[in-house]
Amino acid sequence: MTLFDFVIGVVFLAAATLFVVGLHLMRLPSTARRGNLISAAGMAIAVVATIVFSVVDSGGHWLGWLALVAGAALGGAFGVVRARTVKMTDIPQLVSVFNAVGGGAAAVVAFADFLQHAERNSALGLTSSVPIVLDVVIGSITFSGSLIAAGKLQGIVSGSPITFPGARIVNVLAIAVALVAGVFAIVVGDNVLLLVAVLAASLLFGVLMVLPIGGADAPVIVSLLNALTGLAVAMAGFAIDNQALIIAGALVGAAGTILTLQMAKAMNRSVPAIVLGGFGTGDVKSAAAGNAQDLSTVHAVSADDVAVQLAYAQHVMIVPGYGLAAAQAQHEVAELAKLLMANGIDVRYAIHPVAGRMPGHMNVLLAEANVPYDQMLQLDEANVAFDNCDVALVVGANDVYNPDAREPGNAVSGMPILDVDHAKSVVILKRSMRPGYANISNPLFTDPKTGMYFADAKVGLAAITAAVKEYVTA
Ligand code: TAP
Repeated sequence: MTLFDFVIGVVFLAAATLFVVGLHLMRLPSTARRGNLISAAGMAIAVVATIVFSVVDSGGHWLGWLALVAGAALGGAFGVVRARTVKMTDIPQLVSVFNAVGGGAAAVVAFADFLQHAERNSALGLTSSVPIVLDVVIGSITFSGSLIAAGKLQGIVSGSPITFPGARIVNVLAIAVALVAGVFAIVVGDNVLLLVAVLAASLLFGVLMVLPIGGADAPVIVSLLNALTGLAVAMAGFAIDNQALIIAGALVGAAGTILTLQMAKAMNRSVPAIVLGGFGTGDVKSAAAGNAQDLSTVHAVSADDVAVQLAYAQHVMIVPGYGLAAAQAQHEVAELAKLLMANGIDVRYAIHPVAGRMPGHMNVLLAEANVPYDQMLQLDEANVAFDNCDVALVVGANDVYNPDAREPGNAVSGMPILDVDHAKSVVILKRSMRPGYANISNPLFTDPKTGMYFADAKVGLAAITAAVKEYVTA
């Protein structure tokens, strides 16, 4: 090993250390921003070290450098503009697109490495061919699957499960083709057509894996795709012998896998069942349920009605959902809670693990409005508290407390829910009777103890706060 190789190795190790420290700091909202910056610094160091290494080691063709500089400038500019202008509610689909880009790039790196060997007719050893084939499989699945997931989150592709007769057979065939062609590609070593077959079958499997996902399964698959991106990047690191890629990929893969398993457990889902064909979804029945809701029993209430209930309650539970994020009403809800608490009313927030559109969405949102963590109850704690709750105020949520989850045959069946229906009285603040992400109706909307307050969350909460001030002293 030359001194130069040693120095580059040490720089990669330093970059990897920064990734680990950054990830550690991301555990807490208070240090997450610093963690992000430290990880980004690690990535910048790794990129510079890679460029220096490439210049000194091979020199490279000028055309290659032109493509690299133009690609980095275009991609970098797009990334900066998109990240600076993205709306808070669109971050999940942006993350999904980033997953697609990460997985796709890793697959392309492996494919290019394979082509180089094939061109030179140099035999690939198992230590190179195995990670190359695995990288193409995992990277391609992540690429096509994440694009479909981003489309679903953006509403371009239906969020409901999309299936067709024989979908499972096509799934199994795609897996079989990828497996057989992959094994032959490893054994033969330089047959490009075999790797093309692996690529095509994996891309198809990625699409078919995500299309049937809807309702309660969506969060699990988004987090699984994130884990797969990390694994694909780690495989690319093995393929081209780059330690920084191996470590960064392994970190993302491990963190994503832990999150996926936790999410699946919280949602009462099995990861293999979801991957092999969207088990647990029942779109036909849920669509029918949506049409069957009897609107004549809806009890619409005003801000003043809600204020009276809140002002004379002892225990209030706020149930935030995606609509709170869409309306950016976190400060308004925190202000209302503060006002009630100043008047001796016990107010807490019930946080469902998949409320919103990304893991921890509600925690991050409420932390932004300085809501203390001890006021946010997780699902199990909240469900105990609902039995003693005078008013449950639901703000822009729908699926996470849908009592139909206790029944079989619909898109949220089996998903643990917040027992909002156990509260003595329920107020639901949303703009209309429209369903949420899972696209199914909610029987609690027409329950006799429910008042529907139709308004935008931000406007509605401000109106309730103003009205509560008429009834309280502080
Ligand atoms: P949803 O069931 O999606 O319901 C959100 C409700 O917010 C909608 O019914 C909508 O009704 C209302 N809303 C939208 N904009 C609003 C505004 N400006 N003001 C007031 N209300 C507004 O949300 P949820 O209960 O949080 O459940 C989350 C769903 O997303 C679950 O199905 C989950 O599986 C899925 N999902 C979650 C994740 C993660 S990781 N969290 C990822 C992917 C999918 P109106 O239009 O009538 O106002």
